Amino acid sequence: MSLRVALIGAGIISSEHLKAISRIEELQAVAIADIDEAKVNTASREYDLIGYLDYRDMVQKEKPDIVVISLPHFLHKDAAIFCARNGCHILLEKPMALNTLECDEMIQVASDHDVQLMIGHIQHYFPENDVAKKRIHEGILGQLVQINETRHMNYFKQDRPAWFLECDKAGGGIMMNLGAHSIDKIQWLLNSRFSRVMANLSYHHRDVEVSSDIEGSGLVYLETENEIPVTISISGYEVVPKHVTELIFTKGMMKVEVGKGVYVSQGGSYAQVPTPSDKSPFEKQFMELIDAIQGKRILENSGTYGKSVVSVIQGIYESHESRNMIEITRGGVD
Ligand SMILES: NC(=O)c1ccc[n+]([C@@H]2O[C@H](COP(=O)([O-])OP(=O)(O)OC[C@H]3O[C@@H](n4cnc5c(N)ncnc54)[C@H](O)[C@@H]3O)[C@@H](O)[C@H]2O)c1
Repeated sequence: MSLRVALIGAGIISSEHLKAISRIEELQAVAIADIDEAKVNTASREYDLIGYLDYRDMVQKEKPDIVVISLPHFLHKDAAIFCARNGCHILLEKPMALNTLECDEMIQVASDHDVQLMIGHIQHYFPENDVAKKRIHEGILGQLVQINETRHMNYFKQDRPAWFLECDKAGGGIMMNLGAHSIDKIQWLLNSRFSRVMANLSYHHRDVEVSSDIEGSGLVYLETENEIPVTISISGYEVVPKHVTELIFTKGMMKVEVGKGVYVSQGGSYAQVPTPSDKSPFEKQFMELIDAIQGKRILENSGTYGKSVVSVIQGIYESHESRNMIEITRGGVD
C-alpha cells in the first residue's frame, strides 16, 4: 500500500517534490496547501491533488502519512510541530529552522510523537557528491589538507520570492539559504561536522537597488572536527556565476561541480571521472525517508543533522558581529 503524501507550500521547490513522488511506486501525492490560491489550483490540476488554503485543515482532514514542508524559513518550526503532533512523518526543506533553539523544540516533538523528521539536505543525493565522497575516503589521493568552496550567483534577481530578502522571514540571506547547502555538502563529504568558524559578511543590497536587510556575500573560514580547514566564499551581487568545490590532497586534487561533474588530478591537469546515476536526487531523498519509516535504515538527514547545519549558520552570524572565531557548540537535544 502506498504512503499518502501531502505538501505544505506550492512554491518553486514543491514541483521537484511532486515530480519525484510521481516516479515512486511507494508514494501517492494526495493534497497540497498554500495561502496562494492560484498556486494551489495549478498544482492540484497538474497532479490531481485536493487543494487547501489552510495547511492545518489539510493535515487534519487528509491525515497523510508524510507531509512535505516547503515554506519560508520562519514558518518551518510551527508547521513541522503541527504535523508531528498530528502523527505525520515529515520531509522539511532546508534550512531546518531559524536557530538551534527552534531545532531542539522540533526534534523533541517529533521524538515524542514517534515520527520521522527528515531535513531536505539534497546535496547527499547528487551523483557528483556521491562519487567525490567515495574518492575522498578510498585514500588514493593521499591526505586531504584543505577544501575551498566558491559559489557566485545573482541572488537579488527579480524573480526571487520577496520573503528570501527579508531577514525576519528568511532568518538571514545568502549564507542562510545557499550557505546551508555548502555547509551540509562539506560536512557530509567528510563525515565530520564543523567545530569552529570565522566569517565576514557584506550587506550592500542598496547598491543593487533592492530593498532588503540580508547579507549578500560571505567569506567564511571553518574547521571540521577532524581538523580539515575549509573556506566557503559565496556572493550574490552582479557576478559571473560559479559553483565549484576544490579539495586539495597530498597526492592530487579533486574538483566537484554539482550537476556538472567530478574532476581528479594526481599531478598535472584534471581528468573527468564518471558519475553514474539511476534516480534523481529528489527521488533518492524520498527513498531514504521511506526506508526510515519502514525501519530499514536510520535517517542520515535527521533533525539532529539539520540542527548541526543551523548551528554553523548561527556561528557565521555571531562571528561576523563579534569579529571573533566562534566555537560551534551543539548542546540541547542531540
Ligand atoms: N532543496 C533545494 O535545493 C531547495 C531549493 C529551493 C528552495 N529550497 C527551500 O524550500 C523552501 C521553500 O522555498 P521556495 O523556493 O519553494 O519558496 P517559494 O516562495 O517559491 O514557496 C514558498 C510557498 O509557501 C507559501 N506560503 C507562505 N506562507 C504560507 C502558509 N502560512 N501556509 C501555506 N503556504 C504558505 C507561499 O505562498 C509560497 O508559495 C525554503 O526552505 C527554501 O530554502 C530548497
